Amino acid sequence: MWKITLSDLRLHPDDHAAVIEVLQSNWLTMGPKTAEFEAAFAEALDPVAPPYAFAVANCTVGLHLALAALDIGPGDEVIVPSLTFVASANAALYTGATVVLADVVGPDDLTLDVDDVLAKVTPRTRAVVPVHYAGQPCDLARLLPACAQRGIAVVEDAAHSPLADAILDGAGTVRALGSCGEVGAYSFFSNKNLATGEGGMLVTRRADLAQRIRLLRSHGMTTVTLDRHKGHAYSYDVVELGWNYRLDEMRAALGLSQLRRLPEGNRRRAEVVARYHDRLAALLPEVGVPFANRLPQGRTAWHILPVVLPTGVERTPVQDSMKAAGIQTSIHYPPIHTFSWHRRSERVVAERLPHTDALAPRLLTLPLYPTLRDDEVDDVVDALRDAVRAQRPLPVVVAPATAGGAA
Ligand SMILES: Cc1ncc(COP(=O)(O)O)c(C=O)c1O
Repeated sequence: MWKITLSDLRLHPDDHAAVIEVLQSNWLTMGPKTAEFEAAFAEALDPVAPPYAFAVANCTVGLHLALAALDIGPGDEVIVPSLTFVASANAALYTGATVVLADVVGPDDLTLDVDDVLAKVTPRTRAVVPVHYAGQPCDLARLLPACAQRGIAVVEDAAHSPLADAILDGAGTVRALGSCGEVGAYSFFSNKNLATGEGGMLVTRRADLAQRIRLLRSHGMTTVTLDRHKGHAYSYDVVELGWNYRLDEMRAALGLSQLRRLPEGNRRRAEVVARYHDRLAALLPEVGVPFANRLPQGRTAWHILPVVLPTGVERTPVQDSMKAAGIQTSIHYPPIHTFSWHRRSERVVAERLPHTDALAPRLLTLPLYPTLRDDEVDDVVDALRDAVRAQRPLPVVVAPATAGGAA
């Protein structure tokens, strides 16, 4: 049906072999492959000082686990952007906390607005969840010290940004996104830069949090099945009320195999994005392109390619027209404060979100994946141009009459 899909997962023969090897090993639940994946992921983030890393069933439970490990619960407030996937807010709601929604910076930058965050901080604020939208860092150089001063934890939603960096200060300190705050959570959902179907990773540099995360990920039990299988323990105690948020060995093997190709995939994504930016600037200057003028802050991990349609151009007919041309588009995101459940909930505070309200109806996500060819990027931009111009034709320029031109 689609000529060009929104994302495209191409597994390598090495990925197949890695999963088959696990299946043949007869050990399927969290074990040595998961430990190997965690160590390799932490090393890829920071070879000099790898953080603690914990593979989890998905990013959503990872965020929940992070907030629970920080003892966040009823009566606490967690600040989350409204322009994100619903999981960023739901993870905080699972703890019993109240979610206070914050705005994004504006049309050029769809990450959390630090000024708005600080304006919404109250004595109950316990955590902020910055989302590195599209793989682009939010302003951590301002957010981290501002939160540290106030005793507020930063839990990074790094679902879009595995192996992307941010500059953290004037001295040029570079750190991998997700490893800058108290805890960071990554997603390995099928459409992500590293995809295991379902899956995720939590990282932290704090030993105390690492210990709690390890316990809470596996029912609060003091030993796991593999310990008992190896004869290291006969029984266990349960010292916390935890959950089963573990990853399994098949997914860990798949993640480990893909991790080897992630830097190249991310590099290729940046090339595809550069092509988009050039074509859009040349052919469709009336369409906004968030982050187009940002300089890289180290490694990049473009996950999605959002554009902002001109005011007065309706999005659904644009999507229909692109669909007719065989091109799949999407919307990142319907804001959280527009959902029926979240509108009804007394634990979701949605005040003053002018940029989100103005931008959300105009956002459109174009196809992006490492194997997208240049000619396909051109086809997408041409289809977008046709769709936009169908609603807003270019003004007809009447050439000035030249002297003596009239007969
Ligand atoms: C920004 C963001 N946060 C969290 C999630 C949740 O990830 P998962 O599907 O791994 O639970 C996603 C997934 O799409 C996401 O895009």
